[in-house]
Amino acid sequence: ATPLRLGVAGLGTVGAGLITLLRDNASLITARAGRPVEVTAVAARDRKRDRGIDLASFTWHDNAADLVSDPDVDVIVELIGGAEGPARALVEAALNAGKPVVTANKALIALHGDELARLSEQNNAPLLFEAAVAGGIPAIKTVREGLAADRLLWIGGILNGTCNYILTAMRETGRDFADVLAEAQELGYAEADPSTDVDGIDAAHKLTILASLAFGSPVIFDSVHVEGIRHIGALDFSFARTLGYRIKLIGLARQTEKGVEARVAPCLIPETSPVAQVDGVFNAVIAEGTFVGRLMVEGRGAGAGPTASAVAADLIDLARNTTAPVWGTETTGLQPVRSRPASER
Ligand code: NDP
Ligand code: HSE
Repeated sequence: ATPLRLGVAGLGTVGAGLITLLRDNASLITARAGRPVEVTAVAARDRKRDRGIDLASFTWHDNAADLVSDPDVDVIVELIGGAEGPARALVEAALNAGKPVVTANKALIALHGDELARLSEQNNAPLLFEAAVAGGIPAIKTVREGLAADRLLWIGGILNGTCNYILTAMRETGRDFADVLAEAQELGYAEADPSTDVDGIDAAHKLTILASLAFGSPVIFDSVHVEGIRHIGALDFSFARTLGYRIKLIGLARQTEKGVEARVAPCLIPETSPVAQVDGVFNAVIAEGTFVGRLMVEGRGAGAGPTASAVAADLIDLARNTTAPVWGTETTGLQPVRSRPASER
């Protein structure tokens, strides 16, 4: 069978994890995809850096944009990160050239998903981003496929692994915020600029994507209310414990008669709630639909293995030709919506 040939841009935590997974699970992926899924070309900044993976059989490109014109590349896998700069340029160039894109880049999809959805449609080039929300949890597939027939009332959950890791360690061991954040960075959980995690922005990117999928219109990221966890200290954990609560960074979006409301903020969750039990790097996606009722999906929200697993699931969809439109529906005619500010609710 003809292999699906990948050009991978970015060989950090996720890129190296993906190459390892495709190597270790090659035969099961070939069986499930119906054909081999193979890396043929790669790009990163530093060619000499030791990444703990063998790159000898791949064509190296100093400029990631050259992956698009490489005749041995069928699919661009964007794992550089950032809403602008090389990641955005690469994804736009690939879609314009009619090449499918798989990305883990939530900032890019949250800020430019609407425009990229149009490019994807116009050029008949799928754009897939399962890894962009909640790491290894199949969050996008859950909403776009599993809940496709239902009307969702609200959706959200614990959407940032770094913050949940920090809040869990501070609560359980009394460790210092900066110390635990450094450990999360070491483990490959945090964004290149970790303020994106601890200021709630990354969770808001993911909530924007989930809300856009759940409510069928691209939500405007700048209109989402965002609070982070920097200001939470030992006294907060002590009061929460005394009152029977745990502190979690929660993102929640709901559809009201007046429009979509979306916000990210630290919340007190009753200790006995299943959401309060989701600790460490784990995330939870929770939702309620009119027919399905409530559901919660839990799993590792960051790290090389879980994220690579989600990227590879998209690649199998591409290989099998079973991809869905970006927002689960054709984009033409969809109007972006603003989240309603608290003062108007
Ligand atoms: P890293 O910082 O570990 O890796 C980024 C990679 O991009 C590096 O290999 C770097 O090259 C490369 N790079 C940077 N600039 C360029 C450029 N101009 N051209 C080509 N390559 C470039 O990031 P992660 O792997 O952690 O994250 C990648 C993406 O996945 C981001 O969008 C992130 O938000 C997302 N993500 C990450 C998760 C995680 O747990 N880490 C989970 C879910 C999503 P070099 O190595 O040479 O410096
Ligand atoms: N920095 C992100 C997190 C990576 O900690 O959740 C996964 O999206």
